[in-house]
Amino acid sequence: MADKLYHGACFYPELWDEKTIAEDIKKMKQTGINVVRIGEFAWSKMEPEEGSIDLRFFVNIIHRLYENGIDTVLCTPTPTPPIWFSHGHPERMHVDQAGRTMHHGSRQHACTNNAYFREKAAMITEALAKAAGRLPGVIAWQLDNEFKCHIAECMCASCKNQWHQWLQARYGTIEQLNEEWGTHIWSEYYHSFDQIPQPAATPFLHHSSLQTMYRLFESEKIAEFADEQASIIRRYSEAPITHNSTLFFSLDNERLFEGLDFASFDTYATQEKMESYLLNCDVWRGLKKNKPYWVVETSTSYAASLESYANPHPNGYLRSEAVAAYALGGEGFCYWLWRQQRTGSELPHSAVISAWGEPTVGYENVLQVEEARKKIEPIMIATKPVQADIAITYSDRARMFHLTEPHNGIHYKDLMTDLYKVVLQEGFHRDVLPEGGDLSGYKLLFTPLLPYVSDDYLEQAKSFVEDGGIWIAGPMTGGRTKDHTIHTDRALGRLEEWAGVKTLFTFPMDEKTTAGEAFGLEAPLGLWSAVFEPAGASPVGKVTKGVTPNKAFLTEHSVGKGKIVMLGAMPSGAAGKELIAEIFRHYTEEAGVEVKMDVTPGTIVAPRKTEDGHSVWIIVNMDGHGGTVTVPADGEDILEATTIGAGKLTIQPYEYKIIQFKKEGAFE
Ligand code: GAL
Repeated sequence: MADKLYHGACFYPELWDEKTIAEDIKKMKQTGINVVRIGEFAWSKMEPEEGSIDLRFFVNIIHRLYENGIDTVLCTPTPTPPIWFSHGHPERMHVDQAGRTMHHGSRQHACTNNAYFREKAAMITEALAKAAGRLPGVIAWQLDNEFKCHIAECMCASCKNQWHQWLQARYGTIEQLNEEWGTHIWSEYYHSFDQIPQPAATPFLHHSSLQTMYRLFESEKIAEFADEQASIIRRYSEAPITHNSTLFFSLDNERLFEGLDFASFDTYATQEKMESYLLNCDVWRGLKKNKPYWVVETSTSYAASLESYANPHPNGYLRSEAVAAYALGGEGFCYWLWRQQRTGSELPHSAVISAWGEPTVGYENVLQVEEARKKIEPIMIATKPVQADIAITYSDRARMFHLTEPHNGIHYKDLMTDLYKVVLQEGFHRDVLPEGGDLSGYKLLFTPLLPYVSDDYLEQAKSFVEDGGIWIAGPMTGGRTKDHTIHTDRALGRLEEWAGVKTLFTFPMDEKTTAGEAFGLEAPLGLWSAVFEPAGASPVGKVTKGVTPNKAFLTEHSVGKGKIVMLGAMPSGAAGKELIAEIFRHYTEEAGVEVKMDVTPGTIVAPRKTEDGHSVWIIVNMDGHGGTVTVPADGEDILEATTIGAGKLTIQPYEYKIIQFKKEGAFE
């Protein structure tokens, strides 16, 4: 890809006549759209009858776009196999948890583990890669579209077969599986792998191991499909390959993106959920380190389908979203979709232009994005995001454990977003990393809500601590084994032994009747919790109210040059947020975390660096209220070409500023 910032839209030329397409290309140029994504649902146009593939229409479109200065992200059309694939073949279709076989229509109706689907998907992808993989203008590939966006794990016969093979590969013998899962419980003992059910309908809950392993199995299978597709494309094309994912589908993004070249995500978060938007930027930056991510889909104003709609973004927010995305490490910012759908099930969804070719309610905002993109492009190219001192672990595999065991409705992403928000609002620059993320260079590691701490993770975190890092583990970290069972040596397994504590009890704290105190602050405590008796560690926070008075819920233990901090419960409510913030303030200071900005909530600072070491801050007001930022040293306001002195700087509603500092310093 080129040294530029992309501003794009999803385009469906197969749905429109020649006159409209010509008008669209003209209008894209006028709007400043420099990339489009095409093809992800166009299988019936590419292969109208089984075996007769004709890609000339798309090749021609790609050429025309390119001649008009518009690049293409080309998609494989696999989410929508045509009727010739589905008709009369229920065995090829996705089967949901309730045992319902999907019918043709909508999308993702086929099972991606079905052998015939794989054969056909490989053929269309190979034909597409051959025909278009080296065309000028094809700057990237997107596989499929939002894997698992409408469906979760499939219960079809192909999946069942592969599930048994997967289990056999994982456990070796059925005895081993029986032992690990403890299957005599409720007489679930199996004599052979082919007896093991899928987690489909039962009178009450399925076994925890069976559920979590099935989620893992299916997430590995979809990643294998992606790997297979990517390897076909790579035979004919050098363009990098991505997929447009999110944080709430039944996927293991870390595994999925292992085989892909760069990370991309879709988001339709409204302004009220701006921290969710920012969390996404950090997660996808962390997933493929040092490779810019793309926002492949977002709405110009509001998301909608036949059945619902969201509220429009306030004017100005879209530009803040775009500038934040680029500043935090993005290279592309694209809309779903270019021209409002005329037909189908998403008629009311916002777009760049309407079905009748006029500017939509979001159009002015799109123009503002384009103006900003042009202004910030040189400085974004000349700088890179600074690695943070704080790493937060975000794991889809942890999410699977919480899906199997949600207690009273634990929602992993929401809880992670709440914790992330505290860190964000404290003004800390932070990286969000997958479980396998490289911890070198970090000073503080935060691992909340990771029920299963793998040996690999523990070893990495241990060396991080021994080398001088501070690791805050918890709440809800360490209590489950790799097979989603309970440890029988000690409550939190190896983590506990190493953290210098003995867990006395694990139990649900009722935040209405339970409280704890640490660093002079008292707050309600909630969530599935652990209280500790120090065994080498020092107690830092104690329970003040509830069924375990005086027991420690927060401990610290020095190991090597660093420290492991165990957080056994979730401080909740407003006082809880303050306590979490205080825990962060305390340990980041101790760890020597430097990049902390004095910025009011609702405004963000994205620190970047030039190649020769100059710090650049991109400041964006996201909440539409404006705010202030304390600038730590003299610098230049690059966009205004004025000098700025150290001190408080006012940021207007939705304003963005770029400050380049004169010399290096702690504020980088
Ligand atoms: C995404 C999907 C798009 C479109 C969009 C509407 O989930 O990838 O195809 O449906 O939502 O918001």
